[in-house]
Amino acid sequence: MPDRDLQPLQAGGAVTSPREAATVELTLANVGDYLRERNLVDGTQDVKLELLAGGISNTVVMVVLATDCFVVKQSLPKLRVDQDWFFDRRRIFVETDCMATLGHLLPPGCVPKVRFSDRDNFVLGMSCAPDGGKTWKQSLLAGTVDLEAADRAGRLLGLLHCKSYQRPDLRDRFGDQNLLIQGRVDPYHRVIASLYPDLASTINAEIERMLGTQIVLVHGDYSPKNIVVYPNYVLVLDFEVAHYGDPAFDVAFCLTHLVLKAAHFARRHVEYLASARRFWGAYKDAVKDTIQTPLEASVVGELGCLLLARIDGKSRAEYINDDPTRDFVRNMAREILLTASKDPDSVIDWLGNEMRQRLS
Ligand SMILES: Nc1ncnc2c1ncn2[C@@H]1O[C@H](COP(=O)(O)OP(=O)(O)O)[C@@H](O)[C@H]1O
Ligand SMILES: [Mg+2]
Repeated sequence: MPDRDLQPLQAGGAVTSPREAATVELTLANVGDYLRERNLVDGTQDVKLELLAGGISNTVVMVVLATDCFVVKQSLPKLRVDQDWFFDRRRIFVETDCMATLGHLLPPGCVPKVRFSDRDNFVLGMSCAPDGGKTWKQSLLAGTVDLEAADRAGRLLGLLHCKSYQRPDLRDRFGDQNLLIQGRVDPYHRVIASLYPDLASTINAEIERMLGTQIVLVHGDYSPKNIVVYPNYVLVLDFEVAHYGDPAFDVAFCLTHLVLKAAHFARRHVEYLASARRFWGAYKDAVKDTIQTPLEASVVGELGCLLLARIDGKSRAEYINDDPTRDFVRNMAREILLTASKDPDSVIDWLGNEMRQRLS
């Protein structure tokens, strides 16, 4: 199948039309016809379809042909979470644009390639991640702590931020903050600010700092579930919350997941925290000659917000499912927001001490 746009992307990115209804809502049952009707697969070919699980906000289907493979992703208007969370479907346009942009900015193989875009239906077609990889989340939850993966994920994020640092063209293209607010600030920060009035001014100050920082292209969902790990490299997926913004957000977002895994695997917290330390170290090393803004205190402030949001916000860590661990994380987040050192390495050391004491 040739790479192509069913309709060209619009420069300047995202949010240009108020319409939210697609003409086809994709399901496993109709995606074959959808592709054949648009000549995206030839009618005579055998097509194997697989619904890819994990996402709460999209329909994602892998299409396997005899000699080709691609993934079709359609954004949903309302997310599959317990509480109402509406999220502009046009985020798929941003994802498509960002994936294409990163295809040029980053070394080959770090992101899927855009294969087609169907803006009328909020659909993106992209190349399949090569065989032989596993999402970092799968490995971490299966008990494998791969420090090389943490290093590579940190370096790749650093590279993304360095390559996009202080680029007015990218700021013009990805500077719209509406999706960041709908997808992150409202369901994460503002939910916890309203639940914890004594933390609200600290959280609101962090929101203001983050929204006021527009210096790099931010992935926006830099989580182990969106990072596919191979023996020698990592590939990153899922750019629907990409925006021009604050590098500390991506760093803290990923650190949050690693710290939550350390809290979850309490007896192996030392190893999981080592992956957090390695990720941060690799990132810092990658950006030190390029990004001049100090990041440490911002990473710590955002980490406090996101840890609390993963317990009490609208997108909760599903594997933190016991009250003692939830309370432990809430207390850690509170300390980080109010009193902790403003250096991520010291915060990780301190978390290690707290986790050790919790065991005794
Ligand atoms: N190009 C791809 N190749 C292989 N697997 C993919 C690809 N895109 C997505 N996936 C799989 O589908 C899951 C959900 O896709 P993702 O783009 O992350 O959507 P969501 O925004 O709903 O999380 C990913 O975590 C990954 O396991
Ligand atoms: Mg995802």
